[in-house]
Amino acid sequence: MTRVLDVSGLEGGYDKVQIMNGVDLYVDEGEFVTVIGPNGCGKSTFIKLIFGIATYYKGSVKHKGQEVSGWRTDSLVNRGIAYVPQVDNVFPSLSVRENLEMGGISLPTPLLESRIDRALDMFEDLRPRMNDVAASLSGGQRQMLAISRALINDPDFLLLDEPTAALSPLYQQQIIERIDALRAKGITVLIVEQNARLSLSRSDRGYIFSNGKVVHTAPASEILVDPQINEYFLGTKKD
Ligand SMILES: Nc1ncnc2c1ncn2[C@@H]1O[C@H](COP(=O)(O)OP(=O)(O)O)[C@@H](O)[C@H]1O
Ligand SMILES: [Mg+2]
Repeated sequence: MTRVLDVSGLEGGYDKVQIMNGVDLYVDEGEFVTVIGPNGCGKSTFIKLIFGIATYYKGSVKHKGQEVSGWRTDSLVNRGIAYVPQVDNVFPSLSVRENLEMGGISLPTPLLESRIDRALDMFEDLRPRMNDVAASLSGGQRQMLAISRALINDPDFLLLDEPTAALSPLYQQQIIERIDALRAKGITVLIVEQNARLSLSRSDRGYIFSNGKVVHTAPASEILVDPQINEYFLGTKKD
């Protein structure tokens, strides 16, 4: 079993502002792992730190056994890691096709075309919209475009920041199902989510962050039925 991500004692933040206070977390090949936690606890910062866009202080980040802490984003992309930010994840004034092309500008055209086609196989809703500007898409379609674009470089490890935030329940369900389908195709998935119940329902394991640290980790099935966690993090209502 390959350990795709192995993080220990990770500290970092934004310039001199420390946000992550020593995170230990791992993701094995083929796993779907969800990080949950209250607003402002450092979920987005954690993903940005892994992807080389927040300030690394110390600790270890290993990708498939290789120490990559503090590496530049382009080197991480070359290793097969992709990141879908929560906001500003498409270029609104560009067409769907142009957005997808931006995902693989260094690829030779035939390969780029086949990668785009393969991404669209996962997100068929985008095919009829190829020439429309991304600004004209619904929130759910925009999220699909952002994920499709991340797929163009053929990643095997996908980092997603709240992919279902602000979407209708129908789109939330669809997006999580498609992400699960990507996992079934061999892509390892790490999600940070507010919409915790839905994402956990597809996850193998979960982590709970508080104040820039892991305060709990367990199989997702256990987290989903833990009464205390339900009260504090998942809300009492069933989705
Ligand atoms: N660019 C930034 N510069 C300084 N502090 C930031 C920046 N972005 C986020 N923060 C702070 O980092 C903390 C964690 O934020 P974030 O990682 O976005 O939390 P979450 O994703 O769990 O809601 C918050 O206190 C937030 O205000
Ligand atoms: Mg966030």
